[in-house]
Amino acid sequence: MATRQVTRHAARQATEQATNPDTRQATSMTYDRKKPEELRSHRWLGVDDLRSFGHRSRAAQMGYQREDYAGKPVIAILNTWNDLNPCHSHFRARAEDVKRGIWQAGGFPVEMPAISLGETFQKPTTMLYRNLLAIETEEQLRSYPIDGCVLMGGCDKTTPALIMGALSMNLPSIFVPAGPMLRGNWAGKTLGSGSDVWKYWAELKAGNITRETWGDIENGIARSAGTCMTMGTASSMTAIAETLGLTLPGASAIPAVDSNHQKMASASGRRIVEMVWDDLKPRDFLTAASFDNAVTAVLGLGGSTNAVIHLIAMAQRAGVTLPLQRFDELARTTPVIANLRPTGAFLMEDFYYAGGLPAFLMALSPLLDMNCGTVTGKSLGANIAKAENYNPDVIRSLDNPVAASGGLVILQGNLAPDGAVIKPAAAESHLLKHTGRAIVFDSYNDMNARIDDPALEVDADSVLVLRNCGPQGGPGMPEWGQLPIPKKLLQQGVRDMVRMSDARMSGTSYGACILHIAPEAYVGGPLALVKEGDLIELDVENRVLNLKVDDAELERRRAAWTPPPKRFERGYGKIFMQHIQQADKGCDFDFLEGDAPTAEPEIH
Ligand code: FES
Repeated sequence: MATRQVTRHAARQATEQATNPDTRQATSMTYDRKKPEELRSHRWLGVDDLRSFGHRSRAAQMGYQREDYAGKPVIAILNTWNDLNPCHSHFRARAEDVKRGIWQAGGFPVEMPAISLGETFQKPTTMLYRNLLAIETEEQLRSYPIDGCVLMGGCDKTTPALIMGALSMNLPSIFVPAGPMLRGNWAGKTLGSGSDVWKYWAELKAGNITRETWGDIENGIARSAGTCMTMGTASSMTAIAETLGLTLPGASAIPAVDSNHQKMASASGRRIVEMVWDDLKPRDFLTAASFDNAVTAVLGLGGSTNAVIHLIAMAQRAGVTLPLQRFDELARTTPVIANLRPTGAFLMEDFYYAGGLPAFLMALSPLLDMNCGTVTGKSLGANIAKAENYNPDVIRSLDNPVAASGGLVILQGNLAPDGAVIKPAAAESHLLKHTGRAIVFDSYNDMNARIDDPALEVDADSVLVLRNCGPQGGPGMPEWGQLPIPKKLLQQGVRDMVRMSDARMSGTSYGACILHIAPEAYVGGPLALVKEGDLIELDVENRVLNLKVDDAELERRRAAWTPPPKRFERGYGKIFMQHIQQADKGCDFDFLEGDAPTAEPEIH
């Protein structure tokens, strides 16, 4: 806590510095400019030998002349577009805006497609492939003649994956967020991605809306290209990218189809060329304070529980240790000040018009370290010095928060020795201290088969338990953690219950859902030992999650437990199962962790 207070004091000073033009220069970073022959790509394209002849002749094969690339930074545009990712459907055109900026600044753009992790269509979950995209990012950058990169992502896992890979390779990098889609609209009502799907699905099951209405909602909830427009995982992660200083200021909230998004893309293209000449790499400016800022921002946004896992993994790639408990420490003193669904009332379009992330960070600035560096070469404080809040109901002040705390809470106890996560601000408050009888589902299919069975002995005080849905059990921790309320309880008017699992949940979801229980049931975590009818105690204020069964009985159950059968005998799934780590460790592969340097490829 003492460190936190010192940091907050320093942040105030930095903000004052950043807003004073006379001292702003002091917050900028200075660099020695690179010479063309010092570019990484020079080894491929600039020298005079047999191999470089091959590289240049093949560049000519593609219609390029020497003046197109000679002595220029080669900039990779890692584009996560594909035809089954609606959130990135504008990226094909947007890559051209990025290229325009790179050409303008004297760089040589090369577009490189990377696996698109489309949240809606990819099964069982994009989380199974986050680390694959991270590997692809790192190895594409390593093996080609690349001097710097533009990372084009936004749909949930694409953001952490691209950043993880880029951090490990540590070339100059800038992130271009996809931007949120426009507000949903149906029958004069505003619809929010995900949140309103869960809400109206419950109303359909309760018999309160018709199938026809449900169909109308289907056609109104996703109106344009772009990511989910609630403060779900996509918007949380792109806000994190901006807070870490990996995007241009203000980039993350621009709606995908706003012409300002195109301008941001081309400006990012111009900026990355300068970053290469300045040799400004992400690990030059990302520090423990940068990650504290990112955690604080996601808490203040009422952001996604998924951000916990991704931030831990990203920090590890940057050589920063970010323990799970750090989220809880910062959560105790960070109010939720963004009035955005699913915690609040508004959507990302409203957030953008209110001033976007710069205005939000300015409102949160007493809790942030404004000296942290960014891709602009200036400090975070300097970047947001001119930010204004145009709607104090959307971006609240620290004195008038949406919730005084509780963006995220880390629970522990004999049911979660390595932790679990809950988002109290998005739950019904009477459930935050609760003891109830367990109803146990051994798998997602088991849950679907029984949850609406009229014979299920469940009431509003029961605790719904779903297991074998963790990193290995899912596999990939699918977003099944917002277990549906049983139909018979919906019809009685119940809209929230205590639910718990080793799965994740969509950042657009809400409710008293305890997630990421570690270790997971599939590897023999205590969740595997719960039996129907056991009492489970949740106490959010005291951070407790306990199974009210004595130790001797738990030992008996453990001795009788047998590991589930292997999920994969070959392929990527087998690698995944051998190397994936638990949620509290960020679910990175064990062999990808760390910041040890990797050798450059030999060129011959
Ligand atoms: Fe792509 Fe939500 S489905 S961001």
